[in-house]
Amino acid sequence: MANESASKGLADVVVSKTKITSIDGQSGKLFHCGYEISDLAQNSNFEELSYLLFHGDLPNNSDLSSHKNLIYSNRQVSDEIITLIRQFPSTSNTMDFLRTVVSYLALFDEDSDNNSQEANMNKSIRLLAQMPTVLSYFHRLRNNLEIVTPDNNLDFSSNFLYMLSGEKPDELASKCLDQCLILHADHGFNASTFSARVTVSTLSDVHSAITSAIGTLKGPLHGGANESVLKMLHEIKDVEKASDYIADKLSRKEKIMGFGHRVYQTIDPRATVLREMSKDLQTKFGGNLYDLSYEIEKTVLEQKNLKPNVDFYAASVYSMLNLDSSLFTPLFACSRVSGWCAQILEQLEDNRLIRPRAEYVGSPPRSYVESNNR
Ligand SMILES: CC(C)(COP(=O)(O)OP(=O)(O)OC[C@H]1O[C@@H](n2cnc3c(N)ncnc32)[C@H](O)[C@@H]1OP(=O)(O)O)[C@@H](O)C(=O)NCCC(=O)NCCS
Repeated sequence: MANESASKGLADVVVSKTKITSIDGQSGKLFHCGYEISDLAQNSNFEELSYLLFHGDLPNNSDLSSHKNLIYSNRQVSDEIITLIRQFPSTSNTMDFLRTVVSYLALFDEDSDNNSQEANMNKSIRLLAQMPTVLSYFHRLRNNLEIVTPDNNLDFSSNFLYMLSGEKPDELASKCLDQCLILHADHGFNASTFSARVTVSTLSDVHSAITSAIGTLKGPLHGGANESVLKMLHEIKDVEKASDYIADKLSRKEKIMGFGHRVYQTIDPRATVLREMSKDLQTKFGGNLYDLSYEIEKTVLEQKNLKPNVDFYAASVYSMLNLDSSLFTPLFACSRVSGWCAQILEQLEDNRLIRPRAEYVGSPPRSYVESNNR
């Protein structure tokens, strides 16, 4: 008999209490520790936000300065890690690369086997600091360019862009990336965060949890959607072709990437900020990526009554920032690692093994039959 309480995809199931992030899906609001996301995107920076997620309150000047120093001084990775990065096939999927190298980082982490709160915080800072470095090294090496080592005089987003391109970024590019990192940092019990929490709930370690989370983020129904959005923009090309393209996809019952959300019944508030950013970037750099995206937004609303999520306008923004599409989902991971680590620390503060049950709908009990009698 069907179990009335079974919820496919765990929709609407509350599995824990949290002080980190709250989402009001009806009115399209997102808060971190009580601060609204639009307020944070406008006024904060990624370093400060990661402190908020890790500690629950905004830092004073001295705490912020120590937090930044900790991140900046942990950016470099050892020669063993660089040797490994040089060995990856240049054709590797970038998320596969990131998942593998994060797992490898555990082997060289001085706190690898230490699961204390303090050690877990140190490992979290190191992962936050080192993921942009390993990603940038891989990106440059696969493009036959020499690596660019971190510049400790640069903030998180400026240094990230510098390590990727080899050039000091302008203020607008750094500001845009910084806001993107803020917008992607945490989002409650999304699939990858849940995956990280499940992993540490067994008392496994931080690197294992982040490895699980990266593997989960990779999927096109989660973080992988942003790369698919750019593919769609390139396929459509002209604003006038958007309506027919969307109608055709919907008639084939295909999903439009970057639209819909499990929690929001209205527009994702992060998409609103990214839409403005996309518009500003088109005004500065030209092209039609914002116009095309906006046309798609209007069309999908008309034809399917769906609104964009965080991944939709992120695609045009990253593209106008000259970032290769293979970096889109890994960039998401380099931001979301702050949320993953905060959620891991919270899970371990009051841990209980996460172990749900399934409703069995298979065969009734039966006796084993020898293979030649089947
Ligand atoms: C995010 C997402 C996975 C949420 O999924 P969900 O809560 O499980 O909802 P479902 O996939 O069951 O969708 C419910 C209905 O809306 C439709 N729908 C949802 N998102 C859609 C989309 N992007 N394009 C077309 N139809 C969509 C489904 O086809 C389904 O319709 P049906 O009831 O007629 O079968 C889903 O909206 C999606 O796949 N979006 C595209 C991928 C994406 O952008 N992911 C990034 C999320 S931040």
